[in-house]
Amino acid sequence: MGRKTVLVSGGAGFIGSHVTVELIEAGYDVVVADNMSNCDLTCFNGVKEITGKKDIPFVEMDFCDLPAVEKLFADFDIAAAIHFAGFKAVGESVGDPMKYYHNNLVSFMNILTVARRTGKCNMLFSSSATVYGEPDQLPVIEETPRKDAESPYGNTKRICEDILHDCVKAYPEVKGIALRYFNPIGAHPSALIGELPRGVPNNLVPYITQTAIGKRECLSIFGNDYPTPDGTCLRDFIDIVDLAKAHVCAVERMLKGKMKKDYEIYNIGTGHPLSVMDLVTAFEKANGVKLNWKYAPRRVGDVVAIWADADLANQELGWKAERPIEETLRSAWAWEKRLAGK
Ligand code: WQD
Repeated sequence: MGRKTVLVSGGAGFIGSHVTVELIEAGYDVVVADNMSNCDLTCFNGVKEITGKKDIPFVEMDFCDLPAVEKLFADFDIAAAIHFAGFKAVGESVGDPMKYYHNNLVSFMNILTVARRTGKCNMLFSSSATVYGEPDQLPVIEETPRKDAESPYGNTKRICEDILHDCVKAYPEVKGIALRYFNPIGAHPSALIGELPRGVPNNLVPYITQTAIGKRECLSIFGNDYPTPDGTCLRDFIDIVDLAKAHVCAVERMLKGKMKKDYEIYNIGTGHPLSVMDLVTAFEKANGVKLNWKYAPRRVGDVVAIWADADLANQELGWKAERPIEETLRSAWAWEKRLAGK
């Protein structure tokens, strides 16, 4: 049997580029498609350099454009698709919900619609721990009830999961896996690909690295009076390369007919909580830098604590988070320094 082709929508972005590397290294052909609305070619070029593969097909297109999606599936024999092409800024989605509902839902429905017509729709959806909201029990397992979303962004993740699940139930040619990511951080060990936030970063680690490099004056730690050991929020920070590898396991499971149900959900996390303060301290220690930080009021919409029970992914996908946090934080710093030309 020849090599299988995997479509990575949003493949030029942070997670998509790391997943593309791992897929290629696992022996898949990859088609990267992206509308470049939230990235440039830095990471795609980095993927080519890391893999030594200069001819990775790249299609600049918008998944909301149905004829473009039809052309993509006509041009390539796609065995499985991983859908990353979506907007992801929580705050922005509150101010402009229609932008989020339109882009995130229409793009997903288009890719599903067209993949279905090929008769073999193997769809991997990039979901989020945000679907659990503020959980009643920790760690969260996949059956932990989802809560009403705090933001339109979170709601699009929940709705896309439901769309995929309903399609699997209704159409025999559709198989689906939803991966619920916890907090992906870090960069590739080569420092050739990583996170490229536009403007002021919303997420913790890019804010830390930009503060350490001097682009931002001071990191604000949002809230130190939470009911947690040190008063700051608890999260499950998962290394981006580990997270990317989970996708290879999931694709393999789909394509090798190993799924136990036609729709499966997996938590992709380490299973270990770290506080925001723990992370700041670990960053300073791992990199030998002193970070300028201060406590600031709580950020609206933050959950107090969430971390994964990742046993199901460990057992069924044969995947486990491996990279130690120090290494992850060193990679984030190496990437920031490379961006700054240092
Ligand atoms: C982590 C912790 C902040 C910035 C979000 C999305 C989620 C997912 C990942 C998206 C929180 C604190 C942050 C700062 C801080 N998917 N913080 N100072 O909110 O857990 O998850 O990103 O794309 O869906 O909701 O991640 O990195 O923003 O915050 O103190 O400058 O760090 O309050 O406790 P979050 P985050």
